[in-house]
Amino acid sequence: MSENSVAGESQTTTSQGTIEIDSAATPWQEIYRRLVEVVVPRPIALVSTVDEEGRSNLAPFSFFTVVSSNPPCLAFAPQRSGRTGELKDTLLNARATGEFVVAVVTEELAARVNSASASLPRGTSEFEHAGLTPARAKHVKAPLVAESPVNIECRVVEVRTYGDGPGAGSLVVGEVMAVHLLRELLDEGGHVTAEHLRAVGRMGGDLWVRTRETFGLPRPG
Ligand SMILES: Cc1cc2nc3c(=O)[nH]c(=O)nc-3n(C[C@H](O)[C@H](O)[C@H](O)COP(=O)(O)O)c2cc1C
Repeated sequence: MSENSVAGESQTTTSQGTIEIDSAATPWQEIYRRLVEVVVPRPIALVSTVDEEGRSNLAPFSFFTVVSSNPPCLAFAPQRSGRTGELKDTLLNARATGEFVVAVVTEELAARVNSASASLPRGTSEFEHAGLTPARAKHVKAPLVAESPVNIECRVVEVRTYGDGPGAGSLVVGEVMAVHLLRELLDEGGHVTAEHLRAVGRMGGDLWVRTRETFGLPRPG
């Protein structure tokens, strides 16, 4: 094994100096650890939902992206618990109600959002636990996060599931109903800038990343 190897990984060092990790011969936890180290930076969706009784739930998801512009759609991926194999409350709620809200996570909110990822008993709200405030949405029952400068209301259009063991993911795709933006985020040209937004993202392990250092490249004609 090479000096970069990790117990449990079946890997080969090639003559080009790359390491090949064979996922069929490697525990899924090790592949997961590698993927989240290299698929970076990942934006974080702070997802708010309600259950059938209207009780709110909040949790962050960094398996998150935009998947369509017309119609505008977002997707995030809650996985079954790696320890217990249980489904996340967010997935159960999104499936049951067909609605969710994504709030953008900023530097100011990072620690509170991290505490919202605690696994609390079903029906116990992470809003209170994390010190965040639910606010009424316009199109959906799931609340907005008052402290976030951006909240996006969504209706579920599709849920796809991959696998059924611990760590198995589901892709929840939602069509955007409305975007709520704090006016202060906008520059004179009406654009949201990275300096104003101060969004954070996720790297491997427990690492997070700021997004204020940007560079521009004009698109080729
Ligand atoms: C920044 C951050 C990003 C996370 N991303 C994901 C993710 O993409 N998928 C996932 O299943 N869990 C993710 N988690 C863990 C969930 O937030 C955690 O399991 C949470 O308790 C789920 O809550 P719920 O059962 O109320 O839905 C993340 C945690 C943090 C702190």
